[in-house]
Amino acid sequence: MEAASTISMATLLLVLGTLLALPELSLASITRHYKFDIQRKNVTRLCHTRSIVTVNGEFPGPKIVAREGDRVIVRVVNHVKNNVTIHWHGVRQIQTGWADGPAYVTQCPIQTGQSYVYNFTIVGQRGTLFWHAHISWMRVTLYGPIIILPKRGVPYPFAKPYKEIPIMFGEWFNTDPEAVIAQALQTGAGPNVSDAYTINGLPGPLYNCSKDTFKLKVKPGKTYLLRMVNAALNDELFFSIANHTLTVVDVDAIYTKPFKTDIILITPGQTTNVLLQTKPSLPCASFLMAARPYATGLGAFDNTTTAGLLEYLPPGVSSPSTPSKNLTLSRPTLPSLNDTAFAANFTGKLRSLANAQFPANVPQTVDRRFYFTVGLGTSPCPTNQTCQGPNGTKFAASVNNISFALPSTALLQAHFFGQSKGVYTTDFPSNPPFPFNYTGTPPNNSFVTNGTKLVVLPFNASVELVMQDTSIQGIESHPLHLHGFNFFVVGQGFGNYDPAKDPAKFNLADPIERNTVGVPAGGWVAIRFRADNPGVWFMHCHLDVHTVWGLRMAWVVNDGPLPSQKLLPPPSDLPKC
Ligand code: C2O
Repeated sequence: MEAASTISMATLLLVLGTLLALPELSLASITRHYKFDIQRKNVTRLCHTRSIVTVNGEFPGPKIVAREGDRVIVRVVNHVKNNVTIHWHGVRQIQTGWADGPAYVTQCPIQTGQSYVYNFTIVGQRGTLFWHAHISWMRVTLYGPIIILPKRGVPYPFAKPYKEIPIMFGEWFNTDPEAVIAQALQTGAGPNVSDAYTINGLPGPLYNCSKDTFKLKVKPGKTYLLRMVNAALNDELFFSIANHTLTVVDVDAIYTKPFKTDIILITPGQTTNVLLQTKPSLPCASFLMAARPYATGLGAFDNTTTAGLLEYLPPGVSSPSTPSKNLTLSRPTLPSLNDTAFAANFTGKLRSLANAQFPANVPQTVDRRFYFTVGLGTSPCPTNQTCQGPNGTKFAASVNNISFALPSTALLQAHFFGQSKGVYTTDFPSNPPFPFNYTGTPPNNSFVTNGTKLVVLPFNASVELVMQDTSIQGIESHPLHLHGFNFFVVGQGFGNYDPAKDPAKFNLADPIERNTVGVPAGGWVAIRFRADNPGVWFMHCHLDVHTVWGLRMAWVVNDGPLPSQKLLPPPSDLPKC
């Protein structure tokens, strides 16, 4: 399992001594060390055995556990042929952009035989995040949970759960996903879809030739904290447990006002902590938990259902006395695959706690306003080739019609060493270059422009960004993820954003704070954040097919005047391109 935190004896004695002398310093932080060996491992699912890339031979990967305030040091050693980077999704990385992980954005890839030490501190976050590979489609098998506990002695803002269980959703491909995306980029067509969804790496009983099912064994009358992560590659998911209600208490490592729901919606890149209250007495039934996609686009998608089992154990028993086949099995009801009304209703219920202990520091004024279209498009087919995208073109995707091209060096290095010339330009458009009725009839010309354009922000600027879905190649919900920051979701709606009318409806009191938000299909979302973290920060659709098509861009946040407001210098082992 996970590498143990190593604390030297001297540190231990020091900490112990401090604790005895000064009880108020019992909140002291520690450093937690992990080692990630990137290695291949044969794994069988759906009767297909495949050599997959793993961390330490585990699938899903090992759990990182830390308390708020702790430093985390992960030494990553690459033993496989593929280039690799690891991203600590949602970790703010204050001043430590070098440890963020997106390939060609904050670092060059870790090549075969090389290693890199990620070193960062977790500040002001508690809940669940996750780590994943951040290059090509490597995250299909390279992912694992990050559990952030409150500081020692600080309780949750809800009753202490009896047990905490990570629930990670993923996607299983019977063939090598790197070959799937390489072929799609070559032909211009949409990539082949996955063969199954998984819960903690296991597809469950609803697939042909599936032998592996996640089982959650519970006791009656207890409260369990489920730490849910959507690590799937290309699909938002609905999730429900038959005959049980869930209470949402935290998303993206931010506490929420608790609310009850039978079904949750979770996009790739989002995390959701829910409390599961088990039945007061032993039921004569087992309960299926299931997840299947929320899909709005026109393209093919994996429309299958993954399931696990919730099994009750009598008190004092650690495995079921009666085989579960003798019990009735209840199945949950999930919304239809394109239930946008459910999605809007669910996301509308999310609110920050916004109290004295956990305030919502929403920027009340705005220094810089941006309006970005997000959506699909096309690229011309190269001469002497036939392409299988729309009308013989290649599929592409863009932000403000720019399909973002990754450079062959890292943006953060170019920025830090003042060598941006020939790597990137700073003229990313603040508004769509060709206004049209974004959610109406799409324009005839759907070609995107390729470029490596960034937005430069002064330190501490307060930013408002409205992201507008477009109907080009079909309206679609896009889960947009911002690195380096949390943002507040101050408003959302369907149709085109109206700058005259919509801001009046913004919630500037208790909007949800998070790192990934679904831009509604055929609609818009408005977010605000303060640019208080110097560095270069990637923003992209967390549907990886859209990311590789170019639905991505980056922000440069300049240093502030104080030492604590400057990007730290790069570590000496930063990989070279
Ligand atoms: Cu979870 Cu840029 O990624």
